[in-house]
Amino acid sequence: MTRRSIGIIVNGVTGRMGYRQHLVRSLLAIRESGGVPLPDGTRIWPHPVLVGRSETKLREIAERHGLDDWTTDLSAALARDDVEIYFDAQVTQQREKAIRAAVEAGKHVYTEKPLAEDTAAALDLARAARTAGVRTGVVQDKLFLPGLRKLKRLLDGGFFGQVLSVRGEFGYWVFEGDWQPAQRPSWNYRAEDGGGIVVDMFPHWHYVLAELFGEVRAVSATIATHVPRRVDEAGRPYQATADDAAYAVFELDGGVIAQLNSSWAVRVFRDELVEFQVDGTEGSAVAGLRRCRAQHRAVTPKPVWNPDLPVTEDFRSQWTEVPDNEDFDNGFKVQWEAFLRHVVAGEPFRWDFLAGARGVQLAELGLVSAREGRRVEVPELAL
Ligand SMILES: NC(=O)c1ccc[n+]([C@@H]2O[C@H](COP(=O)([O-])OP(=O)(O)OC[C@H]3O[C@@H](n4cnc5c(N)ncnc54)[C@H](O)[C@@H]3O)[C@@H](O)[C@H]2O)c1
Repeated sequence: MTRRSIGIIVNGVTGRMGYRQHLVRSLLAIRESGGVPLPDGTRIWPHPVLVGRSETKLREIAERHGLDDWTTDLSAALARDDVEIYFDAQVTQQREKAIRAAVEAGKHVYTEKPLAEDTAAALDLARAARTAGVRTGVVQDKLFLPGLRKLKRLLDGGFFGQVLSVRGEFGYWVFEGDWQPAQRPSWNYRAEDGGGIVVDMFPHWHYVLAELFGEVRAVSATIATHVPRRVDEAGRPYQATADDAAYAVFELDGGVIAQLNSSWAVRVFRDELVEFQVDGTEGSAVAGLRRCRAQHRAVTPKPVWNPDLPVTEDFRSQWTEVPDNEDFDNGFKVQWEAFLRHVVAGEPFRWDFLAGARGVQLAELGLVSAREGRRVEVPELAL
């Protein structure tokens, strides 16, 4: 067996996403499973170069996982010939300049979303990468969730007939940080630090809607900062300046209407933290992170509105579980494997910087819609 080692800078590895999903659950998990196999029998072997700001934290992570390649000097790491990929999971605001440096150093780039803070910057990065001839990718992990994969299977099998609408509910209560610590980093709640639920979630909604149902043509959004004061990691109270909830309607190609609520100020009375209900002429389905349940038109009950009587039907029990029929691996890992095959073997990979820029664009236009109180059309983006 031939091993093809590939050096990958993992910048922001001390953060929530960088450490858990990308280092541990993706790159190290790929090594544990023997590397990414190519058709000729070669196995791609990721070699992580941990990059961050804190020597103590980097050393601690490296030792915990038996790694020895780490540095606080990004420029030095980018100058290395044995490093071919730059990966970014830093806070969003630090991303653009680091990616620009990586592209200038001739590295292929894979990054967390959002690609940049505004569309112009995202497109500029996409153009710079094209000029430099490097390959690019942006994390679109939700596409690889078991629930959405099963939903895609229903779509591909023609289960819905004509899709009419999508209703999505995302969110949970993020603690304020005083009487119980917050479960998300405080920068998410400060606009000046790149926070806000629109910037965070609309890039996800863009690729979920575009890949499953049709390109987004217009957006109408209302946003709110429901919890205006929070307490940060150091116990200091701060003003929440970013939106923590967004109530949005997206109009898609082909006439599908998608209505998605995103909120960090909502308590969960659902089966999963995100759920999408899809209604079509022939059937409906409700997909979450892991589960997907469906109801065909032939078995749809006929409820009659009568508030004088107690509900007699158990509506949830009238849906059928869509079976897994396959093993679903971690979505971040699956996408990493695809990107590595793209870089090493030239396999197709469509979740590139231009795809990432479309996500940034939807967030930007969602905020315009909310600020100006109007429906905003989403123009086609091209390089
Ligand atoms: N794909 C997803 O589902 C998903 C989920 C959450 C977050 N994200 C994205 O991942 C990125 C990181 O989010 P996170 O939740 O891991 O954040 P985090 O705060 O846990 O980690 C941020 C990382 O950036 C580093 N950093 C570099 N410069 C910094 C600076 N000036 N200030 C603060 N930190 C700095 C930190 O050291 C840390 O390693 C964000 O861009 C976010 O949008 C993606």
